[in-house]
Amino acid sequence: MSQNIETRLAVVVLAAGQGTRMKSSLPKVLHPIGGRPLVGHVLDTARALAPESVLVVVRHERERVAEAVGAADVVVVDQDEIPGTGRAVEVALTALPDFEGDVLVLSGDVPLLESETLAALIDAHRRSAAAATVLSAVVADATGYGRVIRDADGGVRRIVEQKDASPDEAAVTEINAGVYVFRAPLLRAQLALVGTANAQGEKYLTDVVALLRNAGERVAAAAAPDAGVALGVNDRVQLAEAGRLLNARTVRRWQLAGATIVDPLTTWIDVDATLAADVTVLPNTQILRATTIAEGAVVGPDTTLVDCEVGAGATVKRTDATLAVIGADATVGPFSYLRPGTVLGAGGKIGTFVETKNATIGDGSKVPHLSYIGDTTIGVGVNLGAGAITANYDDIAKHRTEIGDHVHTGSHNVFVAPVRIGDGAKTGAGAVVRKDVPAGALALSVAPQRNVEGWVETNRPGTEAADVAARSRPAQKADDDAQEEDG
Ligand code: UD1
Ligand code: CA
Repeated sequence: MSQNIETRLAVVVLAAGQGTRMKSSLPKVLHPIGGRPLVGHVLDTARALAPESVLVVVRHERERVAEAVGAADVVVVDQDEIPGTGRAVEVALTALPDFEGDVLVLSGDVPLLESETLAALIDAHRRSAAAATVLSAVVADATGYGRVIRDADGGVRRIVEQKDASPDEAAVTEINAGVYVFRAPLLRAQLALVGTANAQGEKYLTDVVALLRNAGERVAAAAAPDAGVALGVNDRVQLAEAGRLLNARTVRRWQLAGATIVDPLTTWIDVDATLAADVTVLPNTQILRATTIAEGAVVGPDTTLVDCEVGAGATVKRTDATLAVIGADATVGPFSYLRPGTVLGAGGKIGTFVETKNATIGDGSKVPHLSYIGDTTIGVGVNLGAGAITANYDDIAKHRTEIGDHVHTGSHNVFVAPVRIGDGAKTGAGAVVRKDVPAGALALSVAPQRNVEGWVETNRPGTEAADVAARSRPAQKADDDAQEEDG
């Protein structure tokens, strides 16, 4: 074979299985870790090798899996009713009829492999005269994996599934990672010979190994540098383990890039999130999806951010936020709930027990306490008093509240949208703002207070309240001479 042909590479990703052991209505390869489905991680790793084609074999829940992996650079191939990893690869090869290069087979349920490990596997395969090279791993607990049975000369004699293994074979701790490089023509020829006479009645890809050897070809095995990367996800215990290992890798990557992660074990960072230098993440924090955190921001403790943008120097404490933009040096929390479309300006504040949605809050503006702010635009330098509520929904449609610059509102206001509050305006405590407030005006909507003297003694005679009121009245009378009673 010429060098040119040998350096051609196609990748086949196996994703047709049901994943029975997951006991799930979701196909196994679509279960997520690190914010992406298992098979998504496998595809990313495959793409990093820049192969000339990537094929994904589907069958169980075909539409869902095909949709999840669908991309211009991916060919989806349908497995037929014949089960087994060998059959899956066989149908994939029908989509590569004239291909004579190397075929890298990856399993959609082995998500932690890194492209460097695969590149090294391909390299070892190409340097050797082997017809196939298997990625193996030496593990403490080989339960469920195929065992790599070696020859005296170090070559691989066969791979035996646990269910088909003799006690001696089952005692082998070198397992098949489910990742292989094959020379395409040899693979094609041997797959046609694979039968289904095994414990599961399936056409095993692993049987190609013994067939190649019987045909006088050599099969090599290259051990993965770290057994963890070979982890296959067959059940939810392994799913959690894979998620933990991936997270540990992601946390470490950001630590080495200059982020302080105080407690790696309780910090979860999705693979698509990014953290700048000198970010600090406090315990119990989830930084999910495409969240970005700029330099010097402090996030956590007890915070979940989904697809958020956190500005430089911002502080986000005990907060749940989705699709929110938090400006530089802004402060959020504790106990804030930022829903999609929240945009908080530089130096702004969203404080305790505040919920926001579709709300733009200008630079330096503050919503400090006990508020719901939805479908609202707030200018710069605004302060909303405690208990501000935008009544944005009238049972039919959502309406906007527009608040200008440097507005200060009293406590416990309701803004009945649509309503506008002009620049520099103020509102009194308890105001229900139904009409627009002109710039610079003070809006009052609460009736002046009226005290009905002696009401309790007249209307609730004999109660404790009436008794204490009667006793305190002489003292109060004296007070009243000096200052007005406040009710
Ligand atoms: C397989 C290997 C085993 C190896 C282990 C590594 C075989 C026979 N066994 O076992 O030696 O140690 O992976 O994790 O290959 N799939 C299809 N079509 C099918 C069946 C499976 O595409 O008909 C896909 C699955 O979706 C999965 C992958 O192939 O992504 C592996 O299948 P699975 O049933 O999990 O194989 P294991 O029993 O784990
Ligand atoms: Ca598996």
